[in-house]
Amino acid sequence: MDTLLSGQIDFKLRPGSDETLTRQLYDQLRATILTGALPSGYRLPSSRDLARRLGVSRNTVSFVVDQLAMEGYLDASQGRRPTVAAAAETKLVSGRASPRRSPIPLGVSRWGALLRKADWPFANEGKPRPFSPGLADARAFPHDLWARYLRRAARNALASGATMALNQPVLQAALLQHLIEHRGVRAETRQIIVTPTAQAAIELIARVLLDVGDVAWLESPGYGGARAALEAAGAVVRGIGLDRSGLSFKGRRDRPRLIFVTPSHQYPTGRLMPINRRRELLAFADTVGAAIVEDDYDSEFHYDGRPVAALQGLDDSGRVFYVGTFSKSTFADVRTGYAIVPAGLVEVFEKAQRHSGQIVPAQMQSVLADFIADGHFAAHIRRMTRVYRARRDRLVQALDAAVGRALKIVPPAGGMQLLAHLDPRRDDVGLANRLARAGVVARPLSRHMTGERTERGLFLGFAAWNEQEIDAAAVLIGRVMRR
Ligand SMILES: Cc1ncc(COP(=O)(O)O)c(C=O)c1O
Repeated sequence: MDTLLSGQIDFKLRPGSDETLTRQLYDQLRATILTGALPSGYRLPSSRDLARRLGVSRNTVSFVVDQLAMEGYLDASQGRRPTVAAAAETKLVSGRASPRRSPIPLGVSRWGALLRKADWPFANEGKPRPFSPGLADARAFPHDLWARYLRRAARNALASGATMALNQPVLQAALLQHLIEHRGVRAETRQIIVTPTAQAAIELIARVLLDVGDVAWLESPGYGGARAALEAAGAVVRGIGLDRSGLSFKGRRDRPRLIFVTPSHQYPTGRLMPINRRRELLAFADTVGAAIVEDDYDSEFHYDGRPVAALQGLDDSGRVFYVGTFSKSTFADVRTGYAIVPAGLVEVFEKAQRHSGQIVPAQMQSVLADFIADGHFAAHIRRMTRVYRARRDRLVQALDAAVGRALKIVPPAGGMQLLAHLDPRRDDVGLANRLARAGVVARPLSRHMTGERTERGLFLGFAAWNEQEIDAAAVLIGRVMRR
């Protein structure tokens, strides 16, 4: 059923296909105009003529012509044959401009360009496998119980009407209570901002605090997600080395605007920053006027001894931002994190949340609030602490059996991952690539470094994998390392 318009255009209409003849004719006529094959001013045959030539009803043709006229592709006035509208071919089709013009490429903003360059090597690792770091065991989460809370929150939302608050007071109150008891933070409820992931909180903090060219300190080795957020904000990111007490900054003369630290379990070494170093860091930040971002990402899990209270609780001058996440303490897809921001900055952070859309659904916030208030959150953490401690020990033993001394491990006192140091002459990136091909995720320590210094090792998450999975993957590591 091929038909010509002025001898040059083919319309191929397929009766009986999944798409209606109206839709087919609309798409083809519009594409013909957009590509410039029918130039502006071109006069279409009358609808009767067109219908006859195409073998479709006149209604079909009239509907398509009216629709294209309404969208501005055709000029059609009563009693006159429709013509292709002036410049109609410059409209976009499927996101592509007309091939007759050479389009000016779209640029990105300075933020976009910085983000493009920002370094975060593990952002797209694909499907989780042993030993992907940072993953909680979603299989061990009480999903049936959680589903009851979800149902209840959905019903309540219908009954009470959704609340417009960005940060739901019920969650702020329940979470603050939990953080006061377990982490020793000091804050008012309104200081808690609830974000989709901790990464989102870090990104908001970087955007609100930093100007292009500001100096930001990051532990080296340290957390790549923070490095990406700081670099995208235009900061000059300096990697600061560690000693046994964590961030080692004595004698430095530069004046950072922001200092990012993981004092409870240094990421990725697992080191704990003792109280003296915490005090020194706060005093230093006071002197230079820096903000401190305390990322307390997985500090719920402690295996040996009692946890040290958060840096935020020691801060008297309102310069510590405390960041946490539910993605480690519940399951990754919960996509809820939070920050405690200084009292004087609550308003600007709420505005930043609203403008960037970093808002967690009210229903999810109310589920988390009830889950915490009813004691299930603390109970889950207690249970998973026992499970994860056993997995940590299992991984240490399994690696010892499979690899022996080639990996040096100091079992971490908490958290969900461990660092196995390699001889500094070994290529940890090459080893991690070979392990990936064998089906094991092991992040190379050297990719966590910022600056000149390099250490080598493998960073392994143990929390999400059961003991058989841990044993099997450790055996694979042994095999690959002996090759
Ligand atoms: C040190 C550290 N901080 C923050 C995060 C981010 O957590 P979220 O998944 O809530 O963005 C992670 C995630 O792995 C992490 O390892």
